[in-house]
Amino acid sequence: MSITGSNRSLRAGMVGIGMIFDETYRPFFERVHREQLFDRRFGVVEIPLVAVASRTGQRADAYRQAAGTNVHRFESFTGDNAIERLIETGIDFACVATPDNRHFDVARTLLDAGVHVLIEKPSVLRLQELDDLVELAQSKGLLAKVVYHKLLDPDHKKLRTLVVDKVLRHVNHGYCSLLEPKQISGSQFAEWITGRNPGTYVAVHYIKLIDFTFGGRLKTITATGQRGIVGPKDGPTWDSTQLRLIYEYDDGREAAFDIHTSWVTPDNFPGYVEQEVQFRFDNGVWNGHSRKRGVECTVEGETPISRKITMNNHYNGTFVEPWGERSQRGYGVEVLERFARELAFLKYGGSASDRPNRYAEIQSLAYNDLSSDRQTVAAVQALEAILERQAAGEPDCVVRVGDPNGKLVLYRPGDSRPVVLC
Ligand SMILES: NC(=O)c1ccc[n+]([C@@H]2O[C@H](COP(=O)([O-])OP(=O)(O)OC[C@H]3O[C@@H](n4cnc5c(N)ncnc54)[C@H](O)[C@@H]3O)[C@@H](O)[C@H]2O)c1
Repeated sequence: MSITGSNRSLRAGMVGIGMIFDETYRPFFERVHREQLFDRRFGVVEIPLVAVASRTGQRADAYRQAAGTNVHRFESFTGDNAIERLIETGIDFACVATPDNRHFDVARTLLDAGVHVLIEKPSVLRLQELDDLVELAQSKGLLAKVVYHKLLDPDHKKLRTLVVDKVLRHVNHGYCSLLEPKQISGSQFAEWITGRNPGTYVAVHYIKLIDFTFGGRLKTITATGQRGIVGPKDGPTWDSTQLRLIYEYDDGREAAFDIHTSWVTPDNFPGYVEQEVQFRFDNGVWNGHSRKRGVECTVEGETPISRKITMNNHYNGTFVEPWGERSQRGYGVEVLERFARELAFLKYGGSASDRPNRYAEIQSLAYNDLSSDRQTVAAVQALEAILERQAAGEPDCVVRVGDPNGKLVLYRPGDSRPVVLC
């Protein structure tokens, strides 16, 4: 029991304790450990991080040492039955931040054991997996949510507000690019990079932004990519990808979006990640550059390698607050707190008999519910299938969504036979 007298808690587990844990989960767990969570609908709720599961446990041990009393004392599990041991600690929810292609198995095991899940983007890589998790979560009355923190970026919130308010009318076309430094593909992800591509890893942020902001029905996906830096020029590992999505809206009009990604940008690039968007509407243009929000800072001997020249102070910046406190805050942390608030509301926001209504309310939130991630997952699955064909010597395939031959169908150039992906 805390000094505030709260006996309400959401016991948290963490699966995967890598780069994203350091950037967003760590500041989130430290903040709720210090401040708890309050809302008049659910009262004061504690959110102790009780256990983590990872491959080696090294980062968990280092973090435990470094954090001291700044975080709840947690257990660390490794090895084949790490997830099962994590579950045995009696957690209410777990955050899944393993490499992309390991989300599904982990999330399935957790949901099966009655644990709510919050999964890092991209949620899963196949529609079959998505349907499986959504059905399982719903049958058990559990939350299954995914983290797309860019939807909470104030610039993207403003874009959506102008669209919702019909100030910007009818999107016609747009492009987005997100370029990660070589350090990501070269060292950070060395353990799991083989066979992977930067589109699944980061284009997914923009697929979701487009899907959530403009709505519509995803119809067609095309893609291509380049190799030769991270892996061999004819291998399955990609340096950069270009993805095109065609959407159709209720009035029958269409829009096209191009999303370019890379994880081989030179490490001495002035910004950590290069993120640019342009959307064109019937009556306007939106241009956004998340790296250039107005700050350029040079420090002799530090920029641009150990410290970046243009910095994103909105995502998870570290600050000395005007009142003296040191903090780490931003939309990357805010999105995790939102999930915790939704779960606290579900568990403590009213009577047991009213729980189904609370569950329906929280589950209908399209920004993070797994059930609203279908078109994003379809785009990722299509991208991966097209790249796989390209690596096998068959470039330029097209994937159609909601085709007469299936939910997701790949067509190869010069061959009318469908390849049903889902
Ligand atoms: N939202 C963002 O901007 C953002 C940024 C980075 C990463 N991510 C996402 O977060 C996830 C993790 O990325 P990262 O950068 O932290 O990766 P990372 O490689 O730094 O860390 C991966 C972690 O997962 C653990 N792990 C691997 N396989 C496991 C398994 N089977 N069971 C338990 N633990 C396992 C590893 O031990 C490690 O702790 C990915 O899905 C990625 O797309 C999101």
